[in-house]
Amino acid sequence: MRLKAVLFDAYGTLFDVHSVALLAEQLFPAHGERLSQLWRDKQIEYTRLVTMSAPAGQRYRPFWDITRSALRYAAARLNLSLQPADEERLMNQYRHLSAFAENHAVLAELNKRGVVAGILSNGDPGMLAVAVKSAGFAPLLQHVISVHPARRFKTDPAAYALGTAALALPARDVLFVSSNAWDAIGATWFGYTTLWVNRLGAPPEQLGTEPSFTGRSLRDVLTHFPAPPERLP
Ligand code: LAC
Repeated sequence: MRLKAVLFDAYGTLFDVHSVALLAEQLFPAHGERLSQLWRDKQIEYTRLVTMSAPAGQRYRPFWDITRSALRYAAARLNLSLQPADEERLMNQYRHLSAFAENHAVLAELNKRGVVAGILSNGDPGMLAVAVKSAGFAPLLQHVISVHPARRFKTDPAAYALGTAALALPARDVLFVSSNAWDAIGATWFGYTTLWVNRLGAPPEQLGTEPSFTGRSLRDVLTHFPAPPERLP
């Protein structure tokens, strides 16, 4: 097997979605962690709900809007009074999520090794552009692919198909990297070679399918794209 390119999931894989917990904790002491967790879970649940079941016309809405709806739900679920100013601060924080510590170095190394690298994300183009720019990733990524044109969220095959179309490669030649186990499974079913970056030591999904590879940090991507041998002068 010869991998020719790598595609990364964005939220949870390149950007730490739980980095908002710190601000959430400041705004709602003792609830930050839980709010951040519920917010993320509801956000993903809503992507599936709208893609699978919403009537035409409501079937797709940008991930940014889904993220805001999920925040409102999570706050209500915890009986927190989310004032418009708090909502704006949290959403603004979400726009500028921290990247995991090793990510910049890994992307830079891939770039140095001449590997084509990109993002394939549920995020809409606007939010992805800001996140990529604020993390300093823009020069290191050749593709930033949003599901937006398909108007369907991952794990819908139409969303995964945008990656192979942009790269003009068969799915098995592309390493799809996600820290979200469900995304790694969806991508495996689509046909990508997959690496699940299991940062938290979570148990694998129990659906009878496993990602092609499992790792613990983004550094594990590098083992799949060895450095070319040094050329002697
Ligand atoms: C992404 C989210 C779902 O696609 O993690 O970036």
